[in-house]
Amino acid sequence: MKPSFQFRLSAAAVLLTAAAFIVSTAAQAPQGPQDPAGNPPPEPRTFPAPANLKVLPRDLSGQQVHDIMEQWEAGLGIRCDSCHAEDPNNIGPNGRPQLNFASDSKPMKAVARMMYTMTEEINRSYVAKIDSFGAPVTCGTCHRGHLGPEPFLIPSAERPPAP
Ligand code: HEC
Ligand code: HEC
Repeated sequence: MKPSFQFRLSAAAVLLTAAAFIVSTAAQAPQGPQDPAGNPPPEPRTFPAPANLKVLPRDLSGQQVHDIMEQWEAGLGIRCDSCHAEDPNNIGPNGRPQLNFASDSKPMKAVARMMYTMTEEINRSYVAKIDSFGAPVTCGTCHRGHLGPEPFLIPSAERPPAP
């Protein structure tokens, strides 16, 4: 085989691989309005206005409440259903009961309300008053991704150095 022919062959192989890659990535890309199947673009998720706020500002939108909830979830390392009860009469598309977010039947929801009030009080009455005030206290400041904050262990000076 002549070297130039061999070069052309491998160059063609590279082009083919690249083309196959582009085709497969395009197939995986989210379907836009020009979806060949004619499906409409996905609707942006909407969140209903909250109906049972007792400690959060009542004028928050559904989206704002949802954003706060995702921070609580991450700050404590738990899921929505730790604080929100299932509604056996409302079966979702996945065949499982949906959560009734307005219901107060889970005791942990009451604890969370108290914790929120405490956190607000810490920030308003104390932390916000220091001159070097930077970041407010959040659920994650204490919880650090765990439901029960872990005790802080003082690193012992006597402990032998790690081998
Ligand atoms: C640590 C407990 C906790 C977790 C975890 C949690 N929530 Fe909440 N959620 C609450 C509390 C407490 C309220 C009520 C706040 C108030 O009274 O102002 C609430 C209120 C809501 C509301 C408003 C309900 C209404 O109609 O008043 C929605 C919606 C909601 N949560 C969704 C979620 C979603 C979605 C998740 C998971 C991403 C989640 N929550 C995780 C404690 C929690
Ligand atoms: C100043 C530190 C601090 C902050 C800030 C804080 N927590 Fe807590 N939280 C605690 C401590 C301490 C406990 C008790 C843990 C235990 O008993 O193991 C606790 C317990 C809880 C519990 C009950 C856990 C259980 O095992 O039943 C929930 C729920 C909770 N916090 C939610 C929140 C939420 C939501 C926020 C933010 C709005 C928050 N906390 C902010 C310190 C804090």
